[in-house]
Formats: sequence, C-alpha cells, structure tokens
Amino acid sequence: MLRTHTCGELRAKHIGKSVVLGGWLHSARVHGKLIFLDLRDRYGITQCVAQPKTKAQLEFYKRLRKESVLIIKGRVQERLPGQKNPNMATGDIEVKISNIEVVSEAAPTPFKVEDEVMATEDLRLKYRYLDIRRRPVQQALILRHRVTKVIRDYMDALGFVEVETPVLAKSTPEGARDYLVPSRVHRGKFYALPQSPQIYKQLLMIGGLDRYFQIVKCMRDEDLRADRQPEFTQFDMEMSFVEEDDIFEVVEGMMKAIWKRVLGKPLKTPFKRLSYEEAMERYGTDKPDLRFGFELQDITSIAKSSGFKILEGVAKQGGCVKAINANGALKLINKGATKKLEVVAKEFKAKGLLQLGYDGKALTGAIVKHLNTGFLTQLKKRLKPKRGDAIFIIGDKERDIVNRALGGVRTLLGELCFPNKRGFEFLWVTGFPLMEYNEEEQRWVSAHHPFTSPVEEDIPLLEKAINKVRSRSYDLVLNGTELGSGSIRISRAEVQKRVFKALGISDKEAEQKFGFFIEALRYGTPPHGGIALGFDRFVAIITNSQSLRDVIAFPKNKYAQSLMEGSPSEVSKKQLDELGISIRK
Ligand code: AMO
Repeated sequence: MLRTHTCGELRAKHIGKSVVLGGWLHSARVHGKLIFLDLRDRYGITQCVAQPKTKAQLEFYKRLRKESVLIIKGRVQERLPGQKNPNMATGDIEVKISNIEVVSEAAPTPFKVEDEVMATEDLRLKYRYLDIRRRPVQQALILRHRVTKVIRDYMDALGFVEVETPVLAKSTPEGARDYLVPSRVHRGKFYALPQSPQIYKQLLMIGGLDRYFQIVKCMRDEDLRADRQPEFTQFDMEMSFVEEDDIFEVVEGMMKAIWKRVLGKPLKTPFKRLSYEEAMERYGTDKPDLRFGFELQDITSIAKSSGFKILEGVAKQGGCVKAINANGALKLINKGATKKLEVVAKEFKAKGLLQLGYDGKALTGAIVKHLNTGFLTQLKKRLKPKRGDAIFIIGDKERDIVNRALGGVRTLLGELCFPNKRGFEFLWVTGFPLMEYNEEEQRWVSAHHPFTSPVEEDIPLLEKAINKVRSRSYDLVLNGTELGSGSIRISRAEVQKRVFKALGISDKEAEQKFGFFIEALRYGTPPHGGIALGFDRFVAIITNSQSLRDVIAFPKNKYAQSLMEGSPSEVSKKQLDELGISIRK
C-alpha cells in the first residue's frame, strides 16, 4: 500500500508514530506561520499541519488546490489544548508533515465537495464521481452493500440459491414498455431487457431448484417519478411447495436480520396484515402509511339527513359518504393547504371536499350554516373530535371514488401534519382482485401479472364474472410505499391459458408469446410462489432519502438520461446499418 493508515484511523494511541496518508485535499487554512490541511478519504478526515520554512514552501502550500490527491508523510502528534475537536474521530491528533506529494492536481471543481451540497441535482449527476466523494452518498452506497450482504447470507442459510437470469430476454408482461435490443445476427428481431425475471424464476421452480433468489437489475420504459428508475434493482425470490404464509415468513425474517445487522435495532414481526378491501375502506389506498391514523369513517347513514343536498342525494341513491377526523390539523389548514387538499380530491374524481373544524364546543367552518344541527350532533358523536381537529367529508355515487379521493386527502394531511415522520411501519396487503378494468385501454388487465393464481374457488368465474375473481397476490408496504409484490402462481397450464383468454390474449398470441412457458407448465410443475421487492426503494426508505437517485451509484435523471456520460446517445450510421435500422426523422 502507498499509505500506512486511512484518514479516519489515527487516534491518540498513534501519537509519535510515523505515518503515510493518501487522500483528497478537503480544505486548507493558513494560521500565522502554520498551514493546516484537512486530508479526506472514505474513512474520514485527518488534520495535517506544516510549518513552511521558506517563501517557496509557503507558496507551494498556498497553491494547493482543493480535491487534489496528496500523499503526506509525517509524525502523529497531539493537538494543542483547546484545538482538539471532539466532533471528529481523529480530533485528538494531527499529522506533522515531513513530506508532501501532489500525485494528482485537481482542476477547480464545478461544486464544493461537502456533506451539505449547494449544487443542483443536475450538476451533481453530471459530475457524479465528485458527488460520490461526499459522505452522504458514500454512506448510502456502503449501507446498500451491507444490506445485500445480509440478504445473501440470510437467504443462503435458508437454502436459497442465487441464480443469474438473462438480460437479453424475451419480453415479459410486467405492464410497462420494454426496452428493446435489436439483433444484428437476426435482422428485424429484438431482445427485450427484462422488466423482471418473472418467467425465468418460475422456470427454475419447474426445473426443481426449489428455492431461488437474485439481486437483479430490471428495466422498464415507463414515466419516471421520484420512486421510479428506468433501470432498477429488485430483490427477487421464488419458492416451491409453499403458501402465502411461507413467503411472508421468509421476508419478515430477512427484514429482521437487516434491522439487526445493518440498522442495529430490533424489528417487530409478524407484520400487520390488511385485506385489499379493508385497506381501501379504512385508508382509501392499497398502500397506506400506518405511521398515522386519520382513518376513513363511513357516515352515509347520517348524511341522508345532513341538510346538504349533494350529500343527501348521494346517500339516498345508494352512494357513499365518508369522513376523516384529522386530529390537531386545524392550525395547519390555511387557504393554501385547503386548495391543495381540494386539488387532490379532484384528481381522484371527487366533485368536492367539505371541511369543518372543531373549537372544543362546536363544529365550525363556512359550510356549517348549510348543515342540520341534528347531523352536526351525530357527526360529533361519530368522529369524536377534540379541540383543534379538522374534519373532511366526501360523498359520491361511487364508493371507490370516495375511498380513493379521501385516501389522497389523508396522505396529503399526513405530509402536512407529520412532515418529519420517523419509524417504520410494514404492512402486508392481501386479497387483491385478479384483474382490474383499464379505462384507457377499455379492457381487463392483470392487477399484478398474468401468472398470478386466482383463488381456487373463483376459477370457474374466470369466464363468467371476471370482476369477482380474487387473486392470491400480496403487496408489502413500507411507510406508505409499495415495496414489493408477489403471489402464489398458476401451476396448471389449463388455468394459465384461461387467464390469458380472460385478458383478451388470443390462443394464437398466447402461443406465440408464452407457448414455451405453457408447455413447461405441462411437464410437472410444483405449486410455487414468490415476491420481488424494489431494492432501491427499500434502501431509499431506510436511509430516509428523498429519491431513489440518492441510493444508486449512477442513476438516470427524471428524463431517463445519464447526464454524466450523455446517454442515451446517437450511434454511428455503420452501427445502424449493421442492425438494418434507419431512424425516421
Ligand atoms: P412488480 O412489478 O410489482 O412485481 O415489481 C416489484 C417491485 O419493484 C419495484 N419497482 C420499481 N422500483 C424502481 N423503479 C421502477 N421503475 C420500479 N418498478 C417496480 C417496486 C415494486 O413493488 N415479477 C413481479 C414480482 C413477483 O410477482 O414475484 C414484479 O416484478 O418496489
């Protein structure tokens, strides 16, 4: 090694020792005749001190550029009294420089390499290698590594085998657009980058591998949001001869191990469970954040005589009226917040959002004078408001609109009322419907994916009442984010064909796309199931990061570009010609 120690290693016990350090010049200060250099590497910062004897030496130190790589030789000495820094691991000592070498001089950097960076994200992504020098980024990457290590050890101990599946693959129907890779050898034909290893992991079960897992890259060409990346990582697993509870147990045990070994904290298991229906009824979403209450309450029966025409009409015509009591929210609800809450309600197709307050004695708000006193008394009885609470009400002909709109309002209220929520609330959501109607495409689509098993007794409904078929899928939710989903799979070719048919996929198309898979199901398929967790999402949540980009070494920006190397980019005409591709302007 070109160094004897790292920049985070030296302590009082090293005083008197000769050492060699290598690192980046973090900062330089002149104090009278002394020059202080802070040398930084992944492990920490060490103060080095020089006492230049000649003008030339002084000039040399003054010319040193930040972020240059230096190799410093010297002796460890105790810092003078009053100059020790208890906030620094190396704060008791400093290295008296006897020799200094600039091994790589840095050009002026586009932004200051500091924990609290001022630069825009675009600039940081363009110079990601400088960004990675910052401690928060390094810590996130190191923690990510630790988590993968714990997962691999844990899964290995349970007999799971990590198997790599192809990246040049055939398109699988995970619901997003595929990234395609043209074949040069087979002109006009394309590979698809896998949206997930779904089919392969099922084939591994048919192959008798019994227990598979993989920490794997998946690629999806979809609209990006803060919690999505075009290429992202999944923790993916599959097991044979199992039911839902077996999968839950493996995942819960894995989380417990991560909490213990990475976060150094205990984690309570088993996780809470809610059926899809209950989650929708109580929280208005299939991924509720359980770190706060604000549950939805059905007030349809009392709304019938509310005095407010719209609510009365809805309630009398078989619709639904629900309310939320947001404890303590009243002081936070100004005009701006009201507007935002209304916008959210409308995004979910609600026609309006009623808002009331409670001052300790009476319900308040502009709407109160339009409401019957009897209704107000009943409402108080039901919601039991305390002074300073805010109440929100939505009514609609369609129960689903009320649930989702009030769910959206609840989520936003959570952000307003508890901006610094801490802690972790896991939740299993089970019993999703097999299919949901896609208004845009005017057809039924898989709520999860087409390999999800229907509940056995609902199989006869596949042809008769597709909307009533329940699935054996489940989601794992963490703090209001969908962390992962999985299911017990279809293991009979005949059922798989019927599900394809129910999805409007013709026999011919099913044969073309998945013929090999349906055939595989015929050669002896064990009952099997699994799950995939969004790994970037997971690391982002446990590190309290704003975006997935904070926990990925080289992420894409929100336009799916890498600003650093400039991808995607044009390719040469020769490359296109070889592939038989021409670009339409
Ligand atoms: P699903 O499509 O639900 O299931 O994906 C599983 C989890 O992957 C994460 N995820 C993403 N993370 C970042 N960026 C994205 N673009 C992105 N898309 C998905 C989410 C999601 O919950 N094969 C099935 C799993 C199975 O059935 O076993 C699958 O891929 O956290």
